[in-house]
Amino acid sequence: MPTIMITGANKGLGLEFVKQYSQNNFQVIACCRDPSKASELTELSQKNNNIDIHQLDILNQDQVSKLANMLAKKPIDILLHNAGIYGQGKQSWDDITLASLQATMLTNAFSPFLLTKAFIKSLHAGERKQVVYISSLMGSISDNNSGGVYAYRASKTAGNMLMKSLAIDLAKDNMRVLILHPGWVLTDMGGPNAPIDTATSIQGMRKVIERDDTTNGGFYNYKGEVLPW
Ligand SMILES: NC(=O)c1ccc[n+]([C@@H]2O[C@H](COP(=O)([O-])OP(=O)(O)OC[C@H]3O[C@@H](n4cnc5c(N)ncnc54)[C@H](OP(=O)(O)O)[C@@H]3O)[C@@H](O)[C@H]2O)c1
Repeated sequence: MPTIMITGANKGLGLEFVKQYSQNNFQVIACCRDPSKASELTELSQKNNNIDIHQLDILNQDQVSKLANMLAKKPIDILLHNAGIYGQGKQSWDDITLASLQATMLTNAFSPFLLTKAFIKSLHAGERKQVVYISSLMGSISDNNSGGVYAYRASKTAGNMLMKSLAIDLAKDNMRVLILHPGWVLTDMGGPNAPIDTATSIQGMRKVIERDDTTNGGFYNYKGEVLPW
């Protein structure tokens, strides 16, 4: 049974990834900041013995290295970086702050990159050797026609670049990196006007993840279409 590790697994897209992968014969390492509050995830793990819940705040480097050491002998086929934040406020020219830029960059760009480094042994031991980064079209420079949203946009652009370099550096070890935009999805982050439900987005992204003809380090949406950087 292949193993997938998912961050931010307690709600939204992360929880739906756990649901679908656990139903599709994956062993799921479901990570979340506070398992005591993750009631839906806990309920799911009680019904499915292929879900293990672990506490992980991706910003907390002590927690990251403790979990990486604990799982060092466990092969991980897919490391799926889902956890992310939108950041505070509108992030417009008028209200953007250093604190907001820093927090968003740390969570959305630097932490997934460092998490990959921490779990590299487990990824080497896995058969699929796949890293998946949930990015956003908001991080596309050429698609930016409306400006603003400085922190979120910049964090996803930086995350894309880190993952692209990682794809090149790890190719020699037969590792593959995929950068995905889930669409605009009905979650706490996506809000109530989003046109896509989580089930549709995750079904689409799973198909893209399973494809073996995607470009290593490529940027795709949940329909498998190539996106502009
Ligand atoms: N929804 C959309 O329309 C959309 C569009 C493009 C991209 N995305 C991306 O898709 C991913 C999932 O978003 P979503 O829509 O499911 O958002 P969401 O409902 O707000 O869920 C975000 C998840 O990330 C977790 N998280 C945040 N900071 C964390 C940290 N430091 N350590 C560990 N977990 C952390 C949250 O945990 P807590 O519950 O503890 O806060 C939550 O589980 C994000 O990377 C987002 O940028 C979403």
